[in-house]
Amino acid sequence: MKVSIIGGGGLVGSCAGFALQAGKIVREIALVDVNQDLCEGQALDLLHGASLLSDQKITANGTEAVKDSDVIVITAGLRRKPDESRLDLINRNVTLFRSILADMKQHGFRKDAIVFVVSNPVDVLTYLAIKELGLPPCQVIGLGTVLDTTRLRSMLAQRLDVPPTQVQVTIFGEHGDSMVPIWSNAQIAGLPLEKFPGVTSNLIAEVEKKTRGSGAEVIKKKGGAGFAVGVSIADVVHAIALDQKRILPVSALQSGAYGLRDVAISVPTIVGRKGVEGLIEIDLWPKEKIALQKSGQVLRETIEKVL
Ligand code: LAC
Repeated sequence: MKVSIIGGGGLVGSCAGFALQAGKIVREIALVDVNQDLCEGQALDLLHGASLLSDQKITANGTEAVKDSDVIVITAGLRRKPDESRLDLINRNVTLFRSILADMKQHGFRKDAIVFVVSNPVDVLTYLAIKELGLPPCQVIGLGTVLDTTRLRSMLAQRLDVPPTQVQVTIFGEHGDSMVPIWSNAQIAGLPLEKFPGVTSNLIAEVEKKTRGSGAEVIKKKGGAGFAVGVSIADVVHAIALDQKRILPVSALQSGAYGLRDVAISVPTIVGRKGVEGLIEIDLWPKEKIALQKSGQVLRETIEKVL
């Protein structure tokens, strides 16, 4: 499998490249960036470690790479300022994103390519890519709340001193302020979260608040997310590469589940080689359902305003 990363010179794109290299699953990683020197530098740095990791091809040969890529990851974009919401970014980023889509169309891409949007505001740009690329909607996926979900699980694990991989709680909705952690079905090692020793409603509220502010916090402290978003991207790419049918909260076009329609937003989604292969609809607490519909409305209104 060949994966190209547009924006591969940047923090998010290069961390995704490294996570894919460490993952040892995809055959080729092609970095693409407007800053060709930086892109070549990142590719060279990855290549230098290849003998210790795996036998992948690593390149930095320009947008041509998208032509025969199985997965095209788009991470390019302007970054949020610490006090700016992801939706504020949109006006600055839509123009840039449209030019990336035009460039991709000009070079051409495989009919069965999966386009994987990471640039922010990710849900809105995923919707734009669905509308502009002419691919079946199931082949366009956004990172959505995959990153928020790992943040929530990992920080909850740290607070409770349990293994992070044994925390099960998922965030639905917008990758942004209106995200909706689904506490109604949360578990630790298969045990109900609310009965787990040490869990209080205050602790839950604190970790939720910290998760909601995580993007802004890492921007303030280190300039932006890198490692966590990199492994989040690799998790989704591997689900596609291995046709795993894993259930992940990626952003995808909705047509009625949870009352959501004509918007790209995160709900539990079956991800495989064909992209979006199904959705899982479960019972939620009424307040979660309302919050999810509100999150959909926030995105719908933004789409109507700017696209
Ligand atoms: C964040 C960016 C990647 O949440 O949206 O850190």
